[in-house]
Amino acid sequence: MDALTMKKAAGEFAARYVEPHMLIGIGTGSTAYWFIQALGERVKQGLQIQAVATSKESAQQASALQIPILELNDVDEIMLTVDGADEVDPQLQLIKGGGGALLQEKMVAAASRRLVIVADERKQVQQLGAFPLPVEVIPAGWKHVRRRILEMNCSRVELRGYPQPFVTDHGHYILDCYFGQIEDAHALNISLHQIPGVVETGLFLNLATEAIIARADGSIQIIR
Ligand code: A5P
Repeated sequence: MDALTMKKAAGEFAARYVEPHMLIGIGTGSTAYWFIQALGERVKQGLQIQAVATSKESAQQASALQIPILELNDVDEIMLTVDGADEVDPQLQLIKGGGGALLQEKMVAAASRRLVIVADERKQVQQLGAFPLPVEVIPAGWKHVRRRILEMNCSRVELRGYPQPFVTDHGHYILDCYFGQIEDAHALNISLHQIPGVVETGLFLNLATEAIIARADGSIQIIR
């Protein structure tokens, strides 16, 4: 199976988790895309649900498929969120934000009873950190934040999109941080949050409850 087929398989598998009248969170990225498409198909066949989106892009895709979208501020607990990831370790700790939607993704994840990750096997790692960690920052002070992160044993920090910075849905910039192997993700997350100007990090710790991993041999592995 190629990467696209694996992403499609994982996304479509997750769509089966959605039950009538659920309030769900819909993720962002090329794997979550297939979840939303499959969900749209079920909605077309009469499934009634409501959803909160993790990005403008996903909200647009869902709306076009007649999936009713609510604002995060207008809901209480989300029953189930399905989202992609850039790295998944054996304890279901994640790096996310490759698509730039990490802030809203983390807020939606934190408001969810269950966070199910959809990914292909290439996202599985023993230890987080080979994928550059996205850190969302306030544009006005990004150079100072970058300097502080470089002092934290980080070999390289790139402003995403430079010289035309990528701007997130919430109007911020993203610094892609090359830490290499992250020994203590919890400690790193706390240290990053202590830097004034950091809005959020792509470390999703103790949030995911399950991962649906599509393998190249066509099988699906569930990690809980
Ligand atoms: C979006 O900001 C990200 O967190 C995505 O969920 C993550 O980058 C995975 O995306 P793909 O499914 O496109 O690899």
